[in-house]
Amino acid sequence: MTSTPPATSRVSIVVPTFNEAANVAILVQKLGETLQAYDWEVIFVDDDSTDLTWKCVKDIAARDPRVRCLRRVGRRGLAGACVEGILSSSAPVAVVMDGDLQHDESILPAMIEKILRENNDVVVGSRYIEGGSNGAGFSRRRAAMSRFATTLAHRITGDQVSDVMSGFFAVRRDRFEAMAGQISTAGFKILLDILMTGGATLRVSEVEYTFRAREDGASKFDLKAMWDFVVLLLAKSTRGIINERLIYFLMVGVIGLGVNLFVLRLLIDVPQLDFAKSQTIATFLAMTSNFYINNSLTYRDKKLKGFAFMRGLGFFYLICSAGAVSNIGISSWMFSNHQQWWVAGIVGAIIGSVWNYAVSSILVWNR
Ligand code: GDD
Ligand code: MN
Repeated sequence: MTSTPPATSRVSIVVPTFNEAANVAILVQKLGETLQAYDWEVIFVDDDSTDLTWKCVKDIAARDPRVRCLRRVGRRGLAGACVEGILSSSAPVAVVMDGDLQHDESILPAMIEKILRENNDVVVGSRYIEGGSNGAGFSRRRAAMSRFATTLAHRITGDQVSDVMSGFFAVRRDRFEAMAGQISTAGFKILLDILMTGGATLRVSEVEYTFRAREDGASKFDLKAMWDFVVLLLAKSTRGIINERLIYFLMVGVIGLGVNLFVLRLLIDVPQLDFAKSQTIATFLAMTSNFYINNSLTYRDKKLKGFAFMRGLGFFYLICSAGAVSNIGISSWMFSNHQQWWVAGIVGAIIGSVWNYAVSSILVWNR
């Protein structure tokens, strides 16, 4: 006679880590205590921590088959780490939590049950609803920043969830798999991204907890994370029309305008050069610097080198010239149709830049 073991629910805990060596063993121990009723596994997704967190995890994993380590090399990013961790699992429920012990593991069973028995798709560990709090986990400055960001995010997601900035949540894995391709791998705000992508089709609820203070290691939340957050909100609220590349491209355009005016101002005093010649040289310099900066910033992941760089530059001149022609054509036409000069000028410039962006993104950097 063989006896079948009692059916237990399978759960995957996904823990992104970067330099958390001192915390992982404690976390595994705590998970074991709180998840006794489940068939659980924990997947640490480590971005090649310099303190060898991945090695600590693998040492534990060698003895405990419930523990796995996904070591990523040459990459950084909290959201991307979470996405890959969830996608590497096969349990019906995945939970994302920090590896620094700031998230209270004792609410895990409540979160999991809300998915398994109450038919929710996402359950958020929340610091703001009654009973939950920021505890000693946040400096005053961070708490203010977090409140500001939450208010901003609420304008976009509605008031369904109080703590949309949380990095602590459970998700039904098949729902996540269906939207995985649309989730940004940049930045910190993966939950917000899931909520905005899934929209009203998601059933969401919350469980409150107290955010603990960090004992070991340091927070990785920085200006870059803040910037990624703003870009994510813009991209999601404009359905992707305004994205990170476009923002960089326009910023570079403004720098280019500065270069153009600066060079023009210098050359105009040179007696051998008339205005048209000076402006031609200034424009070429501006286009060249725009190309160079776009190639190393906006399209750094598709950077052109050597011959491809020269060919790309040639294309870029052509595209920008056509952009300039349409800019001048449209603004002159508007002006002659009794528009205000500045309205005509702005519309011309916008149409010229959008042309430059759209065409160069395809012809120069997308081949
Ligand atoms: N793999 C990987 N790659 N993990 C990372 C990275 C990264 O680039 N950056 C941070 N982590 C890990 C940390 O090691 C930690 O386990 C977890 O992600 C959270 O990072 P912290 O640096 O501790 O973030 P925090 O405490 O400042 O921010 C927390 O609160 C925010 C609320 O405003 C996090 O829970 C955020 O997700 C949350 O949004
Ligand atoms: Mn933390």
